[in-house]
Parts: sequence; structure tokens; C-alpha cells
Amino acid sequence: MKTVFIETFGCQMNKSDTEHMLGLLAEISYKTTDSAKDADLLILNTCAIRQASVDKLYSYLGYFGKIKTKKPDTIIAIGGCVAQDAGSDLIKRFPYVDIVFGTHNLNRLPELVLESQSNRQPIVEIEQALPEDLPELPIIRQSDISAYVSIIYGCDYNCTYCIVPYVRGRERSRPIPQIIDEVRSLADSNYKEVTLLGQNVTAYGHELDPKVHLGNLIECIGKESAIPRIRFLTGHPRDLNEEIIKSVKATPNACEYFHIPIQAGDNRTLRRMARGYNVDFYRQKVDLIRKHIPNASITTDLIVGFPGETEAEFLNTIKLVYEIGFDSCNTASYSPRPHTPSANWEDQIPFEEKMERLRYLNNVVTEVSFTCNKPYLNQKVEILVEGPSARNPSRMTGRTRTNKVVNFDSDLNLKGQIVEVMIDEVHPWALKGSLVKA
Ligand code: SAH
Ligand code: SF4
Ligand code: F3S
Repeated sequence: MKTVFIETFGCQMNKSDTEHMLGLLAEISYKTTDSAKDADLLILNTCAIRQASVDKLYSYLGYFGKIKTKKPDTIIAIGGCVAQDAGSDLIKRFPYVDIVFGTHNLNRLPELVLESQSNRQPIVEIEQALPEDLPELPIIRQSDISAYVSIIYGCDYNCTYCIVPYVRGRERSRPIPQIIDEVRSLADSNYKEVTLLGQNVTAYGHELDPKVHLGNLIECIGKESAIPRIRFLTGHPRDLNEEIIKSVKATPNACEYFHIPIQAGDNRTLRRMARGYNVDFYRQKVDLIRKHIPNASITTDLIVGFPGETEAEFLNTIKLVYEIGFDSCNTASYSPRPHTPSANWEDQIPFEEKMERLRYLNNVVTEVSFTCNKPYLNQKVEILVEGPSARNPSRMTGRTRTNKVVNFDSDLNLKGQIVEVMIDEVHPWALKGSLVKA
């Protein structure tokens, strides 16, 4: 057996792709290792969303280069979104890299590795689109409790700051029967949770024949599989309609959790981001969720320091976080990306100003998350236990259906079980409780 070490950056899509890479490589007798310096094959599965993620790739490459100096047979491969974008430039810049492969041809990884093993010439293979027939790829999952299941690839929007459409291509939905088969076999293998994945899961099925929507898929999974929990990530507010919300409500296994990125709380900024909605439209979506599922948790993504964002506009984002009461927010300062229109706009916000806005926003997000968590005090909640906490083996950690992290003390290892916990402490990022019923 040979060994592979994979470092994964970026979103759940990349994490899922890494699991497929491990499945594909197992077919040519590679098994995973935690030790980069002993591995025969080193892979970086990269993310291009912000410059900071690209910079991480460069520092890892330096490290991998040193390993290769001592062990010249080591194969170094770069995949993921930076590879898709930069292609052969990566080999020019880092001549010790052996393979560059994109996001559309994961299925070719075993052949590329075998080719590299035999002739040691640099290989660059980037495809502009996914294969016509979406291949069903083998997979080795990182968790035996919770599984990612891709349902839609790519993105058809063109937000003016975002590189994703460029590196992930056009939207392609996976047919319902394939998804159902996968979820059923996960339930049979005792998985407790699936997260349906895509850049725009709320757009699921619009190009399938017959046309379906995410709600149809969720209801189908609910009826035809015994998986206890269904989640979905990440949705675009424009495609989130009442039918989807009603399907979540009608499906007992679907979790009361909606991640719907708004990006900014200001209408002029949203227009210049080309998001295709305004703040009122978003408010209506939140009202619809809360009308049908009052205890749903709602989380979002926010960008500060978009080019031309005035201080007053930034403060509109702050006000919106208070007004909506987001359970949590992923926040980022704007990073100019290649191929995106806003990268060339003149009114870029200085770095220090972006950082100051980000710090301010993060403080508000913490305060608002804390407020959202307070009603959980003295409530009984259902927890899917992920396992012992990393620092304390007699402390279990898990999540509520609303995706809140809950820690509780237990001498039993309850990993993979769904238990009842009484919450007796609340914090901004986690809850603490006592086991009621295992
Ligand atoms: N499809 C999802 C988002 C996918 S990208 C949506 O439309 O909402 C994940 C997050 O990265 C985005 O929600 C956004 O907040 C952030 N992001 C994308 N491009 C960025 C950029 N240029 N600078 C900073 N953050 C960015
Ligand atoms: Fe990027 Fe916009 Fe597509 Fe989301 S919807 S992936 S932010 S282009
Ligand atoms: Fe990054 Fe690619 Fe995901 S750019 S956020 S890894 S789709």
C-alpha cells in the first residue's frame, strides 16, 4: 500500500471532494496518512474564495517542497479551486509540483497519479465543465455519523465579488434517485445525519426533467430513507421559496436550520454586489421561515468593506444583524478576486478600515448569538453526539437540530447516539448541559 496525505481548504464542497479523492485513490491502493513527511503522495485541495486561502496554499507548498528535497519520489498534486483557476501557472511557479487537476475531473485522479508515478513529467489537466453524465464517484468518509451528500454542483449567479462560478462552472443537479440511493445506504450503515451540499442548494432541480425543487427532494428523502437528520447548505435567498420551507416543516427528519447568506444589510451594496434582492425581500424570507417554523435557527454570511461601502452602509449591516437576530454569522472582509468585476473598482476600502469594520461586526455577532442562545436555558434538547471533546474525554460534544454546539459531561462514550440534554449554561458559541436520557 502507498500512502496519501491530503490538506483541505475551503468549504464543505472541498471536504466532500477530498472524501471522493480518498475513495478514488483507494482503488489504486493508496491509504490515508496523517504524516505528510512519510506520505508517497501529497495533495492540496485548495480554495480561491479569498486571498488568505490562496496564501495558505503557498505556505503549504513551501513545506511540501522541503519534504520532496529529502524524498524526491514524493508526488505533489494540487487540486480544487485555485488549481482550476491557475492551472499551469502553478507548475511554472513551483516546478516541483507534479500534478495540477481541476474541480471538474476528480474522476481522473487515479490515472493522473499512475501516469506521474511512471514518467515523472508535470501534468496539468483542467476541464471547463463536469462530464456530460455525472460520474458516481467512490468515497471514503471522514465521519461515520454525519455525511455530506452533494446534490447540486456549480453556480449560475454572478455576484460581482465572487470567484465560485468561474472555478465551479454552471449549475448541475444530481438526479433524485441517485441521491436517495446514497442516503438510504448511509442510513443502512447507521449514519445519523446527511448534509445536502451545493453552492446554491435552494436552486436544486430547476434544470432537471421533470423539474423539481429542494422541498421535493427533502420530502422524498424523509419518506424513503430512515436517516434521522437532514440538513442542507448553502442556500441563496432568491431561490428560497415557501414550498421549500413547508417541505422542511412537513418532514420530521429535516432540521429546523436555515443558512441563508445575505452578504450585506444595505440595499445599495446588495445592488452593486448583484445579489438580485434587497433587504426587504430578505426580511420577507425570514418572516416566512418564522411563520412556518418559529423555533428555526437562521444563520448567514456577511462581507464587510465591499468596494465603495460607506460607513453608513456598513452600519446598515450592523443594524440588520440586530434586527434579524442571526443565530450565527460567517463574517469576512472583502478580498478582491481575479475574474470578478469588483476587484477592478476604484473605490477599494483600505485594509485597516476593513479590519476595523470586521472587528466591530464580530463583536455584534457574538452579542446577538448570545441573545439567541439564552432561551435555550433550562430547555431539554435533542443532541446528536459527535463524540468526546478533544480536550476532555469525559465531556461529550454534539449538536441540536438547530445546529447549536452542546457540551455535557458523561463517562459513557455516546458517540453517534441521539440523546436528550437539559441546558444549564449558555454561551455565545456553545451551550452546556446535563444528560437527561441516553
Ligand atoms: N453560494 C453562497 C456563498 C458561497 S461562497 C451564496 O451565494 O451565498 C461562501 C462565502 O464566501 C460567501 O457567502 C461570501 O460571504 C464569502 N465570499 C465570497 N467571495 C468573497 C470575497 N471576494 N471576499 C470576501 N468574502 C467572500
Ligand atoms: Fe458566489 Fe454569488 Fe454564486 Fe454564491 S451565488 S457562489 S456568492 S456567485
Ligand atoms: Fe473555496 Fe471553492 Fe468552496 S473557492 S469556498 S473551495 S467552492
